[in-house]
Amino acid sequence: MKKIWIGTNWKMTKTIEEGIQFTKGLREISEAVTSNLQLFIIPSHTSLVPIKPLTTAANIYLGAQNMHWEDSGPYTGEISPRMLAEIGIDMIELGHSERRQYFNENDEAINKKVHAALNYSIKPLVCIGENIDQKKQQISKETLAAQLKVCLQNLSEEQAKEVLIAYEPVWAIGEQGIPADASYVAEIHDFLRNTLEGLFAEVGSEIPILFGGSVNHDNFLDYIELENVNGLFIGRAAWNIESFQVILQQLDSHLASNVSPIL
Ligand code: 13P
Repeated sequence: MKKIWIGTNWKMTKTIEEGIQFTKGLREISEAVTSNLQLFIIPSHTSLVPIKPLTTAANIYLGAQNMHWEDSGPYTGEISPRMLAEIGIDMIELGHSERRQYFNENDEAINKKVHAALNYSIKPLVCIGENIDQKKQQISKETLAAQLKVCLQNLSEEQAKEVLIAYEPVWAIGEQGIPADASYVAEIHDFLRNTLEGLFAEVGSEIPILFGGSVNHDNFLDYIELENVNGLFIGRAAWNIESFQVILQQLDSHLASNVSPIL
């Protein structure tokens, strides 16, 4: 069975103490998981060091929410891949729509960060998504293809194998977000799979594509059933450990009961 990625972006929500309590709870849940789930959490930078020991022994990947592409230099307020590698993080979230929207991050900068992460063996989780205007103008696919192409520019097949993609339609994210129809998610994920196969002939079929944006208790199973949805990237519905636990337990039993027999 293929690994299903499921994790949460904490955005700017948790103190260190809150993060520690959450992670301790997630550790307990992870011990009971029987299916092939790869859990991950993406805390704020301040929580990475204290949380690292809690994830090391568990099946939980630890990621950061952003970084600069340079190793060091005069970039006040930034944090470098060298610094994150020192903590021992597993992955780095890059290009979330909130970073694009509020901090002017663009595909070229994300591409530099992808290369920098891979140089330190940190897995890039590259977020892409069209905004509502692009959707209305029916240029979602063109927008997403361009984002993928530029964000993943000049990667070798071997490097591309380490990348994860998160498709997060901007109009579906956050309090004002409108959950996407599963049929739309299916169409876009199939398109993203084709695009990745076009960019990387050898590994394009293996790059995990996660879905995010208003994933909640009512819709997560509809999304995870889709052929080219290889995981879920959740915000609000996973920030409370009890709420995340409901999703994880249901997903685990769903996957466990759907294992196809070996013929
Ligand atoms: P919500 O699940 O709160 O819409 O946020 C999703 C997200 O931004 C994950 O990166």
